[in-house]
Amino acid sequence: MSDTSLENQHQSIKQQLETFAYQYYVLDEPSVPDAEYDRLMQALIEIERKRPDLKTADSPTQKVGGAVLSKFESVAHEIPMLSLDNGFEDDDLKAFEQRIHDRLNISEPIEFACEPKLDGLAVSIMYENGILIRAATRGDGQTGENITENVKTIANVPLRLLGDNLPQRMEVRGEVFMPKHGFETLNQTQKDNGAKTFANPRNAAAGSLRQLDSKITASRPLRLYAYSVGVVEGGEIEAADTHSKRLMALAKMGLPLCKETDTVVGAQACVDYFNKIGRLRDQLSYDIDGVVFKVNNLALQGRLGFVSKAPRWALAQKFPAQEELTVLNDVEFQVGRTGAITPVARLQPVFVGGVTVSNATLHNQDEINRLGVMIGDTVIIRRAGDVIPQVVSVVLEKRPAEAHHIVFPEHCPVCESHVEKIDSEAVARCTGGLVCSAQRKEAIKHFASRKALDIDGLGDKLVEQMVEQGLILNPADLFHLDLARLCSLDRFGDKSAVNLLRALDTAKNTTLAKFLYSLGIREVGEATARNLALHFLTLENVVAADKESLIEVQDVGEIVANHIYEFMREPANIEIIEKLVASGVKWPKIEIAPADQQPFAGKTIVLTGTLSQMGRSEAKAKLQELGAKVSSSVSAKTDLLVAGEKAGSKLSKATELGIEIWDEQALVDFLKTRD
Ligand code: IVH
Repeated sequence: MSDTSLENQHQSIKQQLETFAYQYYVLDEPSVPDAEYDRLMQALIEIERKRPDLKTADSPTQKVGGAVLSKFESVAHEIPMLSLDNGFEDDDLKAFEQRIHDRLNISEPIEFACEPKLDGLAVSIMYENGILIRAATRGDGQTGENITENVKTIANVPLRLLGDNLPQRMEVRGEVFMPKHGFETLNQTQKDNGAKTFANPRNAAAGSLRQLDSKITASRPLRLYAYSVGVVEGGEIEAADTHSKRLMALAKMGLPLCKETDTVVGAQACVDYFNKIGRLRDQLSYDIDGVVFKVNNLALQGRLGFVSKAPRWALAQKFPAQEELTVLNDVEFQVGRTGAITPVARLQPVFVGGVTVSNATLHNQDEINRLGVMIGDTVIIRRAGDVIPQVVSVVLEKRPAEAHHIVFPEHCPVCESHVEKIDSEAVARCTGGLVCSAQRKEAIKHFASRKALDIDGLGDKLVEQMVEQGLILNPADLFHLDLARLCSLDRFGDKSAVNLLRALDTAKNTTLAKFLYSLGIREVGEATARNLALHFLTLENVVAADKESLIEVQDVGEIVANHIYEFMREPANIEIIEKLVASGVKWPKIEIAPADQQPFAGKTIVLTGTLSQMGRSEAKAKLQELGAKVSSSVSAKTDLLVAGEKAGSKLSKATELGIEIWDEQALVDFLKTRD
């Protein structure tokens, strides 16, 4: 191929890759399949192999990494990288605004730029005439480390800025972080490879960014959000007179920004924004540890200046810590519905993530080995949002001399049956089956739970009491309870008994999906139960299904198929199923509309926000029955967004993309027309 045509081809592929990467990583709007992106990248690498002179600093091939350093050079920051003052209470925000008023001698409410405080690492990225030429860590604020090769591999960092009127020099400052999902996947891969796992996304981001081999960094799911600038010389951005205009200018040049930023006026509005982000926190795809408030007007920022290492014009309002130190006092072993034995850490109570935590799951023996934890150890506990508290790691330096090993029981702590551990599985199980009262209790609790038969008033404590007193052995016995027997229970009056009997009667009207779910077959969750019901249509068909036909069900693999098959071959289980049906448990016949009568056939629908009338899984099931594909992310391919209360970024994105939007009521009304 002639030199000029190779150059033209290089130029064209380069531009396509830049556009695709921008659409995918910055705008969150994928336009081509991953395979197409990979194919173009390979073509570009091939051209550059033939013509190394085309391998410029801004070539997308730099994203795959390659350079291996022996050490990081240091970089002096032209403008120091400062830290932030912290606030913890609403009053700290009010005092912050008051200090600004006093210092500037003004009384008008102040406009603040508000941004989630990203939990990653601060970086400085220098662009000259639009090309990324250097990137550095914050270091001590004066001098950082040169991590150019690594930053270049970060998927959403542009190697070349977009647009005209670019600054001659511009230093972008922002946070490099690892999204939660990427962190989970990375840790799983590390575990599978017998490599060290990371305690949290921040540590994983730090470990990934400080790699001498940039190929390793390239393989890690890092992202950048820009939040300010350092040096700026020339270009449109130089004229910006507020922080938010600077951010907009950065976005125009192709830099990724956090989508939750806003501007508000006055301290009270800051408090409201802080609370709003607090509620959103768990749904965000990345970790944050607070909110940063910055005086928006740059002239005012200039007048306020700095005190020691932090600007007077900014405040980091922190959420309560999600990680704390405490002591592991003991380990108890709990027996679950399927006999799985779970070690539970009994902790010195500690206030973390906004609540007092005294228990945490240790999952299984593998996890205990991985943590290397002993009784008496000081451990780091993490509790994020509604997530169950986790033991993150052990502080070995604090291990006392009397610390001792955790011994897994060989016999079930409840029924004394033998404990079985299959090599390919992480969990140990009690082999007692329905002999084990712990398993029985859990099976009945599951049967009565909201997503199963939803027996109102049958709480966990009541189930435990009924099993302990021999009133019931299995779920089928529930429907043979009578007033006299119920009234024999501790603190259980006539009225409660009548209510429970009525609730049991109501619960008999269910759906096949819920019934299948309620049986508590291993690894058959709500979604699988629904798929089974839709596939087989009747209970008899599910009971009689062979493994081959079970595998045909959506999302059912060999293992799950085996669990279902084995369950249905167990006479004791069939007896319970038959008794339940004989007691009057029933469901409406499933009628599947032919494809051409399914109103949502071929449509992709996204659910977001809180659906208060029906709940998300129910809405999903109903939409699927009507032919819809229910997806979790909004893209150009989305046909309809159903937005419940407190819908956030998905709603804004769908609005931007001009996607049809329904509120919950519209969906409820529509479904009524289908009944
Ligand atoms: S502004 C002078 N904005 O917080 C302004 N920082 O405690 C300095 N951080 O080192 C930074 N999100 O790593 C700013 N939206 C945000 C931020 C943010 C996270 C981090 C940053 C900085 C640390 C200061």
